[in-house]
Amino acid sequence: MSDWQTIDFFTDQSLVDDPYPYFDELRSAGPVLALPHLGVVAVTGYDEACAVYRDTDSFSSCNAVVGPFATFTVPLEGDDVSDVIARHRHELPMHEHMVTMDPPDHTRERALVMRLLTPRRLQDNEAFMWRLADTQLDEFVPQGRCEFISAYAQPFAMLVVADVLGVPEADHQRFREGFGLSGTVGKVGAGQAGNPGENPLAWLDEWFAEYIEDRRRSPRQDVLTHLALATYPDGSTPEVGSVVRTATFLFAAGQETTARLLASALRHLAEHPALQDDLRAHPDRIPAFLDEMLRVESPVKADFRLARRSTTVGGVDIPAGTPVMLLNGAANRDPRRFECPAHFDLDRDNVGSHIAFGRGVHSCPGGPLARVEGRVSLERILDRTRDIRLSEQHHGPPDARRFRYEPTWILRGLTQLHLEFDAV
Ligand code: HEM
Repeated sequence: MSDWQTIDFFTDQSLVDDPYPYFDELRSAGPVLALPHLGVVAVTGYDEACAVYRDTDSFSSCNAVVGPFATFTVPLEGDDVSDVIARHRHELPMHEHMVTMDPPDHTRERALVMRLLTPRRLQDNEAFMWRLADTQLDEFVPQGRCEFISAYAQPFAMLVVADVLGVPEADHQRFREGFGLSGTVGKVGAGQAGNPGENPLAWLDEWFAEYIEDRRRSPRQDVLTHLALATYPDGSTPEVGSVVRTATFLFAAGQETTARLLASALRHLAEHPALQDDLRAHPDRIPAFLDEMLRVESPVKADFRLARRSTTVGGVDIPAGTPVMLLNGAANRDPRRFECPAHFDLDRDNVGSHIAFGRGVHSCPGGPLARVEGRVSLERILDRTRDIRLSEQHHGPPDARRFRYEPTWILRGLTQLHLEFDAV
């Protein structure tokens, strides 16, 4: 029996450190493959994953975050379970967030987000990012060492979203402290208990409700007022709760993902000193570097859909009610799409065609923001340091490095990254 037939993706700790051999094994057995656990069908093929992402008629996003742990109180029977989904989706975790909605409700909610992420807002936000990057680097560059994720990546990603939403800078420190309060979603081996039945961002909901109610009562010339007064495409005004959820979900979706991308990028640079110099000399190559990083270390490892009706993908039957697991990190290493997929090559022709941001109607609206966060951060970090290297004390000698990854089946990300460097 080969390993994939015994390994349980949702409990096996060994996959946390390195899921890629398992992904390759799954793909060799079939790019669309029924797993022995929890009735899940895994998609590791690039074309097949794109096909599922795009087919909102056959696949619902109601289980997008918690996958097979999104269980209904009634059985999913027959060749079309759309009615059961419609009647019971409000019982599922995260049902109030856009990522689990389907059109037309999703279309309305998404329009609200797109009104926030306007080109003008993103332009102002980029100006803030340049300042923020330097302020944060000032805190630790002179010491010549840092734990990069807590010192830079997490606060940076969080404060960038805070700024997009117009949180006054005077309140930023409060947000920084508040984030220590959030729990982990999708913890390996935790089963249902690892899922957000309770909202881990409840504290943030409260703070945003205060802002929105205040700005609706007394509008000002600021972004929070714009958020508070934004309307749906049909001109109606959303409930305060709806605006608050939109705002807080941006934190949930944009914080850990971007922080882990930055950490992967710094680890790769620390391991490839010549590349540091190359990017210093050619900062215009940073966007391609980030895209290749997103491909080889996709921060969202697994994304889910539920088959509404019986269908086929890549010639494999998918009965209605099947949880389908889209393994972005595996699809992005599909050799039918990317030559020598495990090899990091920022000059590959199709460097931007990974699906780290998903595809179709739910594809990540924060993608452009994350790319700018990466570009600004790397430019400033490379400019203010030389010879970035891994701390041997924390990660071991070059021939026996040690790294730990977040123990979740949803995200792929280092828990800590200890760096040393020369300050410029
Ligand atoms: C490297 C960083 C990021 C990665 C890899 C990432 C990845 C993804 C993926 C794969 C999805 C699709 C989910 C699905 O189809 O079920 C998604 C959705 C989403 N992302 Fe991101 N994301 C990142 C950063 C951000 C940022 C910075 C924001 C905003 C501040 C953001 C906001 C969202 C939102 C609101 C959705 C839901 C969209 C919808 O349901 O229509 N993301 N992201």
